[in-house]
Amino acid sequence: MTQVTFSLNGAPVSLSIQSPTQTLLDYLRETAGLKGTKEGCNEGDCGACTVMVTDEHGARALNACILFLPQLQGKAIRTVEGLTGPDGQAHPVQTAMVAHHGSQCGFCTPGFVMSMATAHLNGDRDHDTTLAGNLCRCTGYAPIIRAAQAAEAEPVPDWLKDASIIRAQISLGVPKGASRATVFQPISSDDLAEWYVVNPQATLIAGATDVGLWVTKQMRDLGPVAFLNGATDLQQIEFQGSLVHIGAGVTVEALRKALLPLHPSFAAMLQRYGSTQVRNAATIGGNIANGSPIGDGPPALIALGATLHLRRGDEMRSIPLESFFLDYRKQDRRAGEFVAGISIPAKAPALRCYKISKRFDQDISALCGCFNVTIEAKNVTAARIAFGGMAGIPKRAAHVEAALVGRPWSLQTLKAASAAFAQDFQPLSDMRASADYRLLSAQNLLTRYFHDLSGQPVSVQQVHA
Ligand SMILES: Cc1cc2nc3c(=O)[nH]c(=O)nc-3n(C[C@H](O)[C@H](O)[C@H](O)COP(=O)(O)OP(=O)(O)OC[C@H]3O[C@@H](n4cnc5c(N)ncnc54)[C@H](O)[C@@H]3O)c2cc1C
Ligand code: FES
Ligand code: FES
Repeated sequence: MTQVTFSLNGAPVSLSIQSPTQTLLDYLRETAGLKGTKEGCNEGDCGACTVMVTDEHGARALNACILFLPQLQGKAIRTVEGLTGPDGQAHPVQTAMVAHHGSQCGFCTPGFVMSMATAHLNGDRDHDTTLAGNLCRCTGYAPIIRAAQAAEAEPVPDWLKDASIIRAQISLGVPKGASRATVFQPISSDDLAEWYVVNPQATLIAGATDVGLWVTKQMRDLGPVAFLNGATDLQQIEFQGSLVHIGAGVTVEALRKALLPLHPSFAAMLQRYGSTQVRNAATIGGNIANGSPIGDGPPALIALGATLHLRRGDEMRSIPLESFFLDYRKQDRRAGEFVAGISIPAKAPALRCYKISKRFDQDISALCGCFNVTIEAKNVTAARIAFGGMAGIPKRAAHVEAALVGRPWSLQTLKAASAAFAQDFQPLSDMRASADYRLLSAQNLLTRYFHDLSGQPVSVQQVHA
């Protein structure tokens, strides 16, 4: 049994749960009788299950279908049933949805209004972005966006200002005398290191945007698990001289915001990572540790020359990120070792990151190319180019880099270097793209990078005659 305490629509809830991987969505619909939160895809793609979750970092929209109950320890959850006021007054976004005809069949509507209400609370007016993770098949987005815009002028209702966070941290930490507990909720990386080294077979759960699907789609029983979200020291972003240290538990959305002034191209690429709900949950540590060849974080981090910090018990080691990825889904991580964080340079003005996917928002990369070339006196003096989606691992384009370094930065050099892509990569054909498309796109991205550095960036959202 695992004890979980949180607040639900303003009321405290304390549960003894049988399975640590019971999702919030299942609990809401099957136990709490709150069926306004809908189940669409059950894999984080559609946003029908969106809820508002508040903690000391503020309010976030999250997908309840891939949130496990222990991740909610000490937090405040608001569902669509808790959006109306004490006397039944509609929330301004609900009123606006009615006035602007923002709903037809209505299946998606609760998720939309929860995303809209969270954005409204946070003063976030980039509605295309905040609603990119909510799918609607029948209304069309224009009335929904108009509703979100109309609600901007209305104040946040008083009843939503009280976050009602329950401080349940007391129940986290090392269960005394239970070092082999099957559910562990560390409150620090020290706690985690001590426990994981004696429970190396356990599954670490950070944001659960991957692990959630192992449960909801593959019906896997995970055995012993550790939830990392209580280890707050892993959630820090710190400047250390010319470097930035990013803890493994930093969410992709927090990272995106922190990168905006430092590495704007990386931040812009992360805006296309999943959706707001996914970025609010997913961590950069999970994105690295899962070893996916199509993860968006690693190519950019490798192009930056990131150093990965790993910890096993009291032992720390640091390696170049690219050497972590050994083979398809095989990483240089020992039993009981976890990703503690990464360090990146604070400055890399030539870094550019390009994500190629079928849809602009909420899509996995067909390929993702990240370039960081140093040019001095019109010659290339250093090059770091890394790709996702081109091999079984996120990988540097070593031959292309070698073909650039020491040569003038010109279209002629690029043309010669482009041929080297075929030496670096033999990509696969799959449902996202053919091998030929991937190879040609990688070559074209190098040209795009040249124009980008020359002050002629190409916006994929603009059509040129
Ligand atoms: C709808 C949807 C859209 C997505 N879109 C994108 C996208 O556009 N781009 C992209 O790159 N990814 C995408 N993903 C994949 C997913 O978001 C990422 O891989 C994510 O970063 C995983 O992080 P997490 O914190 O959720 O990891 P989890 O699911 O908690 O864990 C993933 C793996 O990492 C391990 N792990 C987690 N933290 C650590 C740690 N500190 N040390 C060691 N091991 C650890 C876990 O044990 C597990 O094996 C998407 C996922 C969904 C559901
Ligand atoms: S049900 Fe589709 S995102 Fe949760
Ligand atoms: S109103 Fe029907 S899916 Fe959105």
